Amino acid sequence: MDIVVVGSLSTDFIVQAERMPHKGETILGNSFSTAFGGKGANQAVAASRLAAETAFVGAIGDDGFGDTLKNNLEDNNIFCENMETFTGEATGTAHINIYDNDNSIIVVPGTNGLLTPEVMEKSHDLLRSAEYVMLQNEIPVETIKYVIDFCHANGVKVIYNPAPFIPMEIDYLEKCALITPNELECKALFGEDVESALADHPNQLVVTMGGAGCLYHDGEEEVRVSAFRASPVDTTGAGDTFNGALAAFLVRGQSLGDAIRSANMAASLSIRAMGAQGGIPTLGEWQEAMSDV
Ligand code: RIB
Ligand code: NA
Repeated sequence: MDIVVVGSLSTDFIVQAERMPHKGETILGNSFSTAFGGKGANQAVAASRLAAETAFVGAIGDDGFGDTLKNNLEDNNIFCENMETFTGEATGTAHINIYDNDNSIIVVPGTNGLLTPEVMEKSHDLLRSAEYVMLQNEIPVETIKYVIDFCHANGVKVIYNPAPFIPMEIDYLEKCALITPNELECKALFGEDVESALADHPNQLVVTMGGAGCLYHDGEEEVRVSAFRASPVDTTGAGDTFNGALAAFLVRGQSLGDAIRSANMAASLSIRAMGAQGGIPTLGEWQEAMSDV
């Protein structure tokens, strides 16, 4: 495998409204839809659409939602044999409110919370086969630590996207090939300002800043990689697209700086359609967009 994503998958329940209701207030919304989501699944879809051989390890319930999510991953050419199904449990959901081109999200983990280290044991061979293993924070923290340790012991590179934020000991961070927080997550994780954290972790820490692009340190200096302009329809999942794309372009042999630029383009394309996975480009769509800049 080029990339093995260990993470969450969810049904996203999306409501669009003019504004957010105040506490205790009821307002009318404009539309409702469901979409495929979960940070892990979104990253896997991005990697696979950008032509990386991708597997997903995650957990679903037998509630109907789970099979639909798994089928979607398979439709995106993702290897799902190592997924786990829990009887009588609810699959993860995310409740997304979109207003004024921005969003707020409540995630209910469901079976994403049941992806324990024990469940990971049957995936040792799959993890060992990977060029990159990708992790995010929508599964139990013990599992994240377990996978980081396992990959470190087996010489497998980990890309860790610490979103949504939970604290993580520096020992684990240092075992990762790449860490991809946003600015707030970066400050909270490293307990220092972004500039110092970047300098302390050259070629390892990539800080994402949405429309302002990304920062990393190349060992000599701090480098800013600009984002591409896009008028957003739905920014949900842009960070996930960035991460999956970053891994896919590293697998294709790009340097870190080039892969960040490539992933910025994938993220900018992703926000032009509704749903976290709606706008994630294929390699062909990405190539077309790159030839226009
Ligand atoms: O990063 C976006 C994702 O976060 C959504 O798809 C939703 O599932 C939430 O988990
Ligand atoms: Na989108």
